[in-house]
Amino acid sequence: MENIIKDIDIISGEEAKTCDFKVTAEENTGKSRRLYIESYGCQMNFSDSEIVASIMKETGFDTTSDYKNADVIFLNTCSIRDKAEQTVRKRLSQFNQIKGANPELKIGVLGCMAERLKEKLLEEEKLVDMVVGPDAYRDLPNLVGQVEEGQKGINTFLSREETYADISPVRLNSNGVSAFISIMRGCDNMCSFCVVPFTRGRERSRDPYSITKEAQELFDNGYKEVTLLGQNVDSYKWSPQENNKARLNKKEAEITEVVHFSDLLEMVAKVNPKLRVRFSTSHPKDITDEVLYTMKRYDNICKYIHLPVQSGNSRILELMNRTYDRDWYLNRVEKIREILGEDCGISSDMIAGFCSETEEEHQDTLSIMDIVQYDFSYMFYYSERPGTLAAKKYPDDIPLTVKKRRLQEIIDKQSSLSMVRHKREIGQIQEVLVEGISKRSTEQLKAKNSANKVVIIPKGDLRIGDYVKVKITDCTSATLFGEIIN
Ligand code: SAH
Ligand code: SF4
Ligand code: F3S
Repeated sequence: MENIIKDIDIISGEEAKTCDFKVTAEENTGKSRRLYIESYGCQMNFSDSEIVASIMKETGFDTTSDYKNADVIFLNTCSIRDKAEQTVRKRLSQFNQIKGANPELKIGVLGCMAERLKEKLLEEEKLVDMVVGPDAYRDLPNLVGQVEEGQKGINTFLSREETYADISPVRLNSNGVSAFISIMRGCDNMCSFCVVPFTRGRERSRDPYSITKEAQELFDNGYKEVTLLGQNVDSYKWSPQENNKARLNKKEAEITEVVHFSDLLEMVAKVNPKLRVRFSTSHPKDITDEVLYTMKRYDNICKYIHLPVQSGNSRILELMNRTYDRDWYLNRVEKIREILGEDCGISSDMIAGFCSETEEEHQDTLSIMDIVQYDFSYMFYYSERPGTLAAKKYPDDIPLTVKKRRLQEIIDKQSSLSMVRHKREIGQIQEVLVEGISKRSTEQLKAKNSANKVVIIPKGDLRIGDYVKVKITDCTSATLFGEIIN
């Protein structure tokens, strides 16, 4: 079961709105030791925690949802903004108190913060026993062994090949209906604000056959939706020539040509027409018309694209090293509308107050939002990250109060656009997938439409995992409401 905790105790004020973390679910298969993982950051990190749980299971650990019962606690961390790191620091100080009472408890920091800070983290956080980067999880059993012998365990080696393709994840983040599949790791783009290329290393694509196999297994186990994950899915590329032929079994050997993202999307869509396929994140410079046509050809590929713009101003986009400008972005959106129509959901990420951004340039972000009419956005103010191109080259010169005010304007704009986009769906008949019980009432279910919007519907005789046709009857800026069509 999905287990998201609103972290209100450990962070205050506005941060509480944005910081969720996931914790491991209870799994009891009779192992002697217990592992508790708390995951921060992006879906990729949540997906990695499932790989970590799988590796640790082999070493004799069941997962627990209560850190008080744990022999080992892992924090799978995020470095994307300063706040994300501060949240983890605060959490560590809480766990360190617990460790004071239970010296046998072992604490490990995993993920992007581990990779960014390396041994410095062991020096700064004295009670941390392990620091393990995102490409070193296969080494966890060995590192746990070292720690149990009284040493510290550290491995922050970044790999050019590791994709964990052969590891069957323990599904920690799942409602039994939808699951993540990582299709690639790392990132070769050098957006000047971004720490990810430093924490996740070089981009590499996972064997396509291992991806379709995982999707098939999920479907056979009752799952109805998979989300293909990568920092830039459009640059997915797998070449049979570059990979070791000897390793391929018969079916893999059938792949003789280079597999691009549109090919992979088609392969996964063909697993079963009743398996919905989503993907994230698309990069505006790389998303191709082939991807859009493939989406159109398959009903089970959801009509939703997360296409982060970051800024609506071409000068700022250049400083950000996003390698597209405002016109290029708008042209991509036009293509999406032309090929997939007005109903296709489009969402974005925005950064307010990037280095040297003027009021007029900020207005360009608000105006591009108006033109695109985003269904929703993830919105942030710029946080300088040590070691990035922007930190080296451009002063972080927009005062915090101005950053926050611009961010608020972006949030207000998005909220009114979400309302407009939701209202136009009232009266439509849509197929939705039931994902769980609604938070508001046990008599209502939470479902999702193809465009990734939450639709609240009456329970009726429906079960989680059912597809059902609904008529949209009402909305807020966050949610649609529907009635079941018989
Ligand atoms: N690969 C994705 C982004 C992953 S990071 C892409 O290229 O779109 C998720 C989002 O965090 C980014 O899109 C950006 O909006 C935000 N972000 C990244 N670095 C940031 C920083 N230094 N300050 C503020 N927001 C940042
Ligand atoms: Fe960061 Fe840019 Fe890579 Fe996204 S594409 S992860 S923003 S460097
Ligand atoms: Fe954060 Fe690392 Fe993801 S920095 S956003 S957890 S790739």
